[in-house]
Amino acid sequence: MVKAMYPTRIISNYFNLAISLVLLSFPLTAACADEALAKVLQDRIDQVKQDPKAMKAAMAKGKEAAGFCVLCHGETGNSSKAEVPHLAGQNPVYLLDQLERFTDGSRDDFIMSPLAKKLTPDDKVALVVYYANQRRLANVASNADPALLVRGQEIFEKNCISCHGDDGRGKEGYAYIAALPEKYIAGTLTRFREPNSHRINVLMAAAASTLSNEDIDALAAYLSNLR
Ligand code: HEC
Ligand code: HEC
Repeated sequence: MVKAMYPTRIISNYFNLAISLVLLSFPLTAACADEALAKVLQDRIDQVKQDPKAMKAAMAKGKEAAGFCVLCHGETGNSSKAEVPHLAGQNPVYLLDQLERFTDGSRDDFIMSPLAKKLTPDDKVALVVYYANQRRLANVASNADPALLVRGQEIFEKNCISCHGDDGRGKEGYAYIAALPEKYIAGTLTRFREPNSHRINVLMAAAASTLSNEDIDALAAYLSNLR
């Protein structure tokens, strides 16, 4: 229900009335709402990417706005904190979607939710364009048990690559999950598995529903070491 209402608000933020009226005239199912939203966010990012002047302005504005984010997400979006995700190199449509989710409450975090609500749509676009264009650094290799890494790889290749790609870098609205901090991955998968109000996503709830605690540890070890 939250999802069905969500795109119309976003569309009114990013797009003109004509498009929102077309979409408003259809009863939106959750899946259809997600697709409509992904398209709107993708189009907004493409508009900037295709216009060198807009791109340059967004990069400069994003860098400036990121001054505060550095505290937790690190210089250039490579976080050194176990519970904070890297933003560097992340797919911009995914990032924009997450900032909108913090804003509308379908993702909830005591730091990020109030912060995201203060950002204007233009700030968000500039920030995600800036972060998407930073290079994600590899994590310091962990001394994980090789058997755990093999198990993680097997589950990843069987259950995850259809959306996140065989290199874990995702695409467009799908997250770049390779080289995220291990603890963040494990905590995030646990949240998706258990019904909660922190992060509601039907696709990831389904993907995580069959994972045991050990599977989650294996995936977190494998993915955090993936470059
Ligand atoms: C005080 C620490 C802190 C600051 C400052 C901060 N963040 Fe975050 N951010 C977090 C944490 C913690 C999470 C993970 C929340 C969760 O577990 O759901 C997060 C998650 C995110 C995500 C989701 C990424 C993903 O991989 O899903 C985005 C996007 C984000 N932050 C953007 C920003 C931006 C942009 C700023 C600056 C305007 C910022 N953050 C400032 C702590 C912070
Ligand atoms: C059907 C597509 C699909 C499959 C299969 C899938 N995912 Fe995801 N994944 C998503 C979507 C969509 C999101 C964004 C969720 C959101 O908006 O909260 C996501 C988000 C994530 C995140 C959070 C990234 C971040 O930066 O916070 C992690 C970690 C993740 N997936 C891991 C996995 C793993 C591990 C598997 C396999 C067990 C998997 N996914 C399978 C679609 C999928």
